[in-house]
Amino acid sequence: MTRRAILRGVGHYLPERVVENAEMETMVDTTDAWIKSRSGIERRHFAAEGQLTSDLALRAAQAALADAGMEPAEIDAVVVATSTPDTTFPSVATIVQGKLRTSGFAFDVQAVCAGFVYAMATANSFIQSGQSQRVLVIGAETFSRIMNWEDRTTCVLFGDGAGAVVLEAEEGSGETGILATDLNSDGRFRDLLYVDGGVSSTQTTGVLVMQGKEVFRHAVEKLAQTAETALDRAGLTPDDVDWIVPHQANSRIITRTAQKMNVPMERVVMTVQDHGNTSAASIPLALSVAKQNGKFKPGQVLVMEAIGGGLAWGAVVLRL
Ligand code: UT7
Repeated sequence: MTRRAILRGVGHYLPERVVENAEMETMVDTTDAWIKSRSGIERRHFAAEGQLTSDLALRAAQAALADAGMEPAEIDAVVVATSTPDTTFPSVATIVQGKLRTSGFAFDVQAVCAGFVYAMATANSFIQSGQSQRVLVIGAETFSRIMNWEDRTTCVLFGDGAGAVVLEAEEGSGETGILATDLNSDGRFRDLLYVDGGVSSTQTTGVLVMQGKEVFRHAVEKLAQTAETALDRAGLTPDDVDWIVPHQANSRIITRTAQKMNVPMERVVMTVQDHGNTSAASIPLALSVAKQNGKFKPGQVLVMEAIGGGLAWGAVVLRL
């Protein structure tokens, strides 16, 4: 018998305010044509004043619990992937736990845009070890709060949102649920993507700084690699993949990664046009939107892959 983490529910929440590229044109020296052609982004959502990452996380969690048909008290762990927490501490996860009244424990994972993949791998380990039975995994961000609004090379790319999944342990044949994960990081590339402030250094929040072209180069090279490593661990190949659910940073990165893996674009979930880059929230947002659109069928193989600041990157292979 194999103990696996089965996907029971998916949900998301996007703040009401939609900011089209046309509005960005009024804020910085940019054009809708440039943003669309270089990144694929057409619009993004921004949280309202006073609306916090934990507020978005809570709404996404409630949607995922409803989709799973579960009560909060049945959840025994909450893992939130975020780089934009409400406060330095406590964690967003404990805030969500306090509001939902889940049992067990709660904590945050910080791996920037790879955060959701890291959180899924963490939750999977808790489930496989027997520590946890039902884990709520959330990706939630308010990246609009760490933008440099004078830097047109970054501020047009990011958005706010949250997505969540419910994973449940099941003893069985081992054919469904999370089949394999792969995590990597390389801190030598810290300067390619970082926030220039923080508690210990400046006692300020700081703003995002990115060498986009360099990150792009690493992304194309590393994403297919990590996806293929995870697939190999699951005893699968890219031919077995029904859906790639990638981190939504740039449509050109998503397309090139799929091309490298020889997976046709009909089998790739793309939401970057509507959400922008929502960092750790982007994969669960894409998962939830795709599920709502009726894309997924039982038994299908999904690969989630992401890369971001650190650099940190990784992949999760899951059979529905
Ligand atoms: O999620 C975490 C991981 N992050 C990523 O994966 C992001 C990876 N990188 C990217 O997505 C792309 O590199 C960007 C979308 C950020 C940029 O695309 P690019 O094709 O690499 O453009 P570039 O940075 O080479 O800039 C090309 C030109 C430059 O002008 P010159 O030097 O050629 O005259 C920029 O100054 O575009 C200019 N530019 C802009 N023009 C209009 C940069 N930003 C803008 C802008 N509007 N917003």
